[in-house]
Amino acid sequence: MADLSINLAGIKSPNPFWLASAPPTNSGYQVQRAFEAGWGGAVWKTLGEPILNVSSRFAAISFNGQRVMGFNNIELITDRPLEENLKEIYETKKRFPDRAVVASLMVEPKREKWHEIVKRVEDVGVDGLELNFGCPHGMAERGMGSASGQVPELVERQTYWVKEVARTPVIVKLTPNITDITATAEAAAQGGADAISLINTINSLMGVDLDTWNTIPHVAGKGAHGGYCGPAVKPIALNMVAECARHPRIRIPISGIGGISNWRDAVEFMLMGATGVQVCTAVMHHGFRIIEDMIEGLNHYLDEKGIASVMDIVGKSVSKYSDWGDLDLNYKVVARIHREHCIQCNKCYISCEDASHQCIERLVDENGKEYLKVREEDCVGCNLCSIVCPVDGAIEMVEVPSEHPPMTWNERQVALGRLSGCSVDIKSL
Ligand SMILES: Cc1cc2nc3c(=O)[nH]c(=O)nc-3n(C[C@H](O)[C@H](O)[C@H](O)COP(=O)(O)O)c2cc1C
Repeated sequence: MADLSINLAGIKSPNPFWLASAPPTNSGYQVQRAFEAGWGGAVWKTLGEPILNVSSRFAAISFNGQRVMGFNNIELITDRPLEENLKEIYETKKRFPDRAVVASLMVEPKREKWHEIVKRVEDVGVDGLELNFGCPHGMAERGMGSASGQVPELVERQTYWVKEVARTPVIVKLTPNITDITATAEAAAQGGADAISLINTINSLMGVDLDTWNTIPHVAGKGAHGGYCGPAVKPIALNMVAECARHPRIRIPISGIGGISNWRDAVEFMLMGATGVQVCTAVMHHGFRIIEDMIEGLNHYLDEKGIASVMDIVGKSVSKYSDWGDLDLNYKVVARIHREHCIQCNKCYISCEDASHQCIERLVDENGKEYLKVREEDCVGCNLCSIVCPVDGAIEMVEVPSEHPPMTWNERQVALGRLSGCSVDIKSL
């Protein structure tokens, strides 16, 4: 059995699976039950100044029979008194000393407010702090959460204030509601953060009711933007994690969050640079018990690959993620249709004909049977036919040898004497 324990900026846990700061970490009762089930750590539901929540708060999108493909909330931070939370954090840490208990914090952007709350949570024995600069609603209207998290200077300054007094590692949780996540990640690093975590939820409006014309969800007929999460956001989160992991000036560990539902998702985040992961929506959907499959799956995966420690996979795919200008223009794949698996649904033919390069032919063999064949010389290797094909293995994308040596767009520009990748001087427009 592989060693699943991790050390994220000095915060240790017996496995890389933590609960994200959210409803599942709202109380000692819940976090302790999660730890009994096997979770390696928990980021407590964000602590701060008293708030009032609205009803209703959640909405979800189901897609093609899958419930909760995307989840949306307009909930704020904890609505329980700080003293109660602190007491339960203390009890939880005492009962589960080997698990990571991290306090998520959000206060007004004032130095003394940060100093005060850091001292109070550290006094009850937390293993680390997570600064919530990500909440996209409610708190942002008061200058907290993503209102702070979208301004690199505010992220840097507040991180610095926390680091002035913190005795435990400081994780800065980033909002995805920004054009370039690396700007705020770098600001966090500049401010002295020991790690970053991402992503928090994405601004969203889940829908509009066609009968009442109310937003979904609505509060007495009115709606406000919420935060989107769950499986649908995983590709966005994974890209943001990868962008931070490959950034030369962000040299701090990453806690990956966003649409992680199983061990496979977790491995992908870790390969792309996350030292550990946090989960919210999958637990809200299926409960704490999903941790059993996550631990078992990760163990099998590592054992099969002969990897002794989960820490050994961290960042292994980062160097494979680059800019478009670094991709080999002469690398080529083509689609090949395997007749023995094809069910003649023609989905590939229609997609290629209407939306790609018209290179699938409908032919008839010597026995009068229809079949589909790719005209490989015209296939651009876009993958569309294999994506729409409903039968696994019926369409294979095959690498074909290139007549030309590898050359990227950037190399091509240099060869053509255009040293900058962009041939248009944007300033002259
Ligand atoms: C109902 C709800 C409440 C949340 N509350 C918080 C919070 O108090 N603090 C915080 O940092 N993130 C909060 N989040 C965001 C999650 O911690 C997490 O970043 C996000 O849901 C993405 O992970 P997921 O796709 O696994 O859900 C909340 C998410 C949901 C769905």
